[in-house]
Amino acid sequence: MKKPSIETITVKYLVNFLLVLAVILLIVTAFNFRALSKSSTENQAMAYAELVRAGLTAHMKAGVMDKRDYYMDEIKQLRQIKKLRVIRSDEVIKQFGAGRDDEQGADAFTKQVFESRQPLFDSQEWRFQPVIRAIIPYIASSKGSLNCLGCHKVAEGVVLGVVDIELDVTEDRNHSLYVLVGMIMLSLLFMVLIALNTMRTIHTHVRVPLETLIDHTREAYQKHIPVSLDQFKTEEFVNVANEINLFNADIIAHQDLLKDKNRELAALNSEIEHTLRETVYTMGVIEEQRSKETHNHTKRVTLYSQLLAEKMGLPKDDVDLVTAASPLHDIGKLGIPDEVLLKPGRFTDEEHQVMQNHTRIGFTMLNHSSRDLLKMAGLIALQHHEKWDGSGYPQGLEGEEIHIFGRIVALADVFDALYSERIYKEAWHIDKVVSWINEQRGMHFDPALVDIFLENIDAFVAINDSYPSDLST
Ligand SMILES: [Fe+2]
Ligand SMILES: [Fe+2]
Repeated sequence: MKKPSIETITVKYLVNFLLVLAVILLIVTAFNFRALSKSSTENQAMAYAELVRAGLTAHMKAGVMDKRDYYMDEIKQLRQIKKLRVIRSDEVIKQFGAGRDDEQGADAFTKQVFESRQPLFDSQEWRFQPVIRAIIPYIASSKGSLNCLGCHKVAEGVVLGVVDIELDVTEDRNHSLYVLVGMIMLSLLFMVLIALNTMRTIHTHVRVPLETLIDHTREAYQKHIPVSLDQFKTEEFVNVANEINLFNADIIAHQDLLKDKNRELAALNSEIEHTLRETVYTMGVIEEQRSKETHNHTKRVTLYSQLLAEKMGLPKDDVDLVTAASPLHDIGKLGIPDEVLLKPGRFTDEEHQVMQNHTRIGFTMLNHSSRDLLKMAGLIALQHHEKWDGSGYPQGLEGEEIHIFGRIVALADVFDALYSERIYKEAWHIDKVVSWINEQRGMHFDPALVDIFLENIDAFVAINDSYPSDLST
């Protein structure tokens, strides 16, 4: 699963934080705004009540109380006032009578104000058309310019009546809501701007230098050059690039050391391999010397085998293996008694059987090894006298039952025996050799190998010429 980027995580946390902050600020602001708005409306209601009280007092003093309806009606026309009435106290009713119909009939709220002598406000702000009802006491006082006691025969501080006023606050409520929505929009805009600015900052100062650092680190590692510090504008990236350079230098030094060690190991391995092949070849030469075999026989059989394997298209490893293993094809002769091995003239049947046993002896000498080279040399030693038609020895294998290396060395060995001079015979003429080997196609030899031999007679002759059998040495 793809992991989120630094930008995504930072912006996500930032937006979450700003959202919570904005919600808290908006809630606090909304409550304060509501309290301010309520207080303002209550003050307005108080002002209207004062106006009513002052007007009525003025009417009374002027002795035109019968004209107060006109005044009250005019006041009611003022903006926001939905209802307005003045309720008389029992003291006033006693002195001046019940007055107009709407000046009587105190409900629970007005009674509460008569008793408490404190203004009372009832807000119904959640209605579609919100209203606030203000009930304000009209208290008799001799203080100030409006001396009530000049007209009213009551004690100081008696509640003469209450002004019951209901104001429509729809406009105030709507105005508050508009301001609140405006603040929300402004907050959202502010959050978007902060988020965009943060993304831009992270992109410029984190993402871009980070990608540059990754690219240059890769290049530095591949080309063995340090990461340039000048391209980074922040201290942190310069420090990281510096650390990478130190780390890279360390790795490169270790790599060079490892390469040197590997070269040493490869050289050592090659030396061991070479020594082993030389040793194997020398064992073949030792056998050649003891058997009084024709000089260079081992060398030539090795080269013929290599030639046949290559021309047959065997993999390089197999070509190398048969080339390295073929010198030991007659190693078993080391186990044949001198009187048989070195006997001049013809063998008796019994001697012939002893001689043939060099195949099994060679196999036994080499097969115990866990090395491919010696194990394969053992197999070649065992099978190099087998014949394609099954008439060979020691097992009488036929066709592809004989390992391809056995078939190759069989042809190489016989070719060398025929084409080189021996103590008991002259070297055959090449035409005779070719003719005889061709006759043995599918009998003694693998037909495919005979075909390869026939196509490469010149190369076989060239090898023979390069490593002649010098009977005098
Ligand atoms: Fe042999
Ligand atoms: Fe041989």
